[in-house]
Amino acid sequence: MNNGKPTTIVIFGASGDLTKRKLLPALFELSREGLLPSQTRIVGFARREKSHEQFRREMQEGVLQFARSKPQSGAAGFDDFFAGLYYHAGTYDDPESFAGLNSLLQELDKASGVTGNRLFYLSTPPSLFFPIISKLGAADLIADIHAEESWSRVIIEKPFGRDLASARKLNRDILSVLHESQVYRIDHYLGKETVQNIMAFRFGNSIFEPLWNRRYIDHVQITVGEAVSVGSRAGYYDRSGAVRDMVQNHILQLVALVGMEPPASFAGNAVRDEKVKVLSSLRPVAAGEGNQLTVRGQYKGGKLGDNVIPDYLSEPDVSDGSRTETYAALKLYLDNWRWSGVPFYVRTGKALAKRISEITIQFRQPPLVLFGHAEHEGHVDGDHMQPNLLSLRVQPNESIRLQFGLKVPGSRMILQPNEMDFCYSDVFHTEQPEAYERLILDAILGESTLFIRDDEVDAAWRYVDTVLNAWQEDSSTPIGTYEAGSWGPAAVDRLLAKDGRKWINL
Ligand code: BG6
Repeated sequence: MNNGKPTTIVIFGASGDLTKRKLLPALFELSREGLLPSQTRIVGFARREKSHEQFRREMQEGVLQFARSKPQSGAAGFDDFFAGLYYHAGTYDDPESFAGLNSLLQELDKASGVTGNRLFYLSTPPSLFFPIISKLGAADLIADIHAEESWSRVIIEKPFGRDLASARKLNRDILSVLHESQVYRIDHYLGKETVQNIMAFRFGNSIFEPLWNRRYIDHVQITVGEAVSVGSRAGYYDRSGAVRDMVQNHILQLVALVGMEPPASFAGNAVRDEKVKVLSSLRPVAAGEGNQLTVRGQYKGGKLGDNVIPDYLSEPDVSDGSRTETYAALKLYLDNWRWSGVPFYVRTGKALAKRISEITIQFRQPPLVLFGHAEHEGHVDGDHMQPNLLSLRVQPNESIRLQFGLKVPGSRMILQPNEMDFCYSDVFHTEQPEAYERLILDAILGESTLFIRDDEVDAAWRYVDTVLNAWQEDSSTPIGTYEAGSWGPAAVDRLLAKDGRKWINL
């Protein structure tokens, strides 16, 4: 089944890693599954001169290496897909390059009967986002939003700003050329099947939603752990850090999906209206509260599997004496009716023991007195009164698990925690599509639910700025450290311990 109207996709930053590893493999999979509109053409735009043929060859290598279906060259549809690839060399500040692009696009449109539907993908450093958009506008490459014949949409990669002021300026600049409905700010976490399932699970099942509030939930934990070091990305990462790289976008999106009110529909604006309300209710970190509400750390050398990892400070491209955090844990509060007084503890880091992303909802304890005698009589190992936990594993081994207490057979009333679990791979035997497949297809279809709106970016930065400011003020305390391959700095346990809580053992 082909979807949507014939479209030309232009990728800026076509010689970058993302294009080869993710974007072309995703487009290839969509094409293989017959989901791309017929007559889809893909044009790569980058600085280096090369022929269409050379670009096709390079992208074939990427697809052969990274596409999830592990295609063979010459497989059905393979050559046809690559025949639809073109390349245009140009510089991002040169109007001539964009005039040349316009001519190429018109030629392609004419040859294939496409009416000017264009999806521009900005897979470039953020400093080029606005220069490209302004040149697209000046070269008459952006269709009027009221045009009936054709549309233009622009997918913008992360990072979107590095603080509130820069994000606001970027939004203002972009919206001086584009209408918000033409802007598709990407957060690839929203393209993950299990992340989309948070909404399905909450709002498609009537048994959980009545419990989903401060009356029944003690607290929420969100872990996004990575078992990789910064490796070759330190040039970017050292200017960013865990909060900008992971919390401002991916983790706050998870918070928004767990915390939001039921939307009136799944249309883009209805869902995003609700997410904005959650993000706007994040309680700012006040001056002097940094140490109570946050923990940051930097990895020291250690082992990740068989790989020996150097200290973060010795990684190539990390500045001398860098204070960039490779780990962050935060205690968040949503100051709204549903979540008043319920903390959300979130943590993320590089070079951790495991790659694992999981959301855990910990429910309140029932009145303990009923079963308390068992412990006094010494029949239990102290684990008998575990709270109910609902765990949503985002990756890997995607699953949903519910922990509850059961009576151990025997003459005494002793409880033991047990789990009911559901593993995606046991039930669904198809491979999950990559996040980029879903997101690119949605952009082609004009479906914006899984993209970030300008006010969401703004609200997320409003909170994140308060964390960064608190850290900025405290520039003399040394940053905590943790060994690569561990679970983060020791202080992270204290963040919960002082509230009488513990991180779930993952
Ligand atoms: C990116 C970050 O947005 O997300 C990376 O820039 C991080 O630093 C990546 O590694 C994690 O994505 P995933 O899909 O592997 O969890």
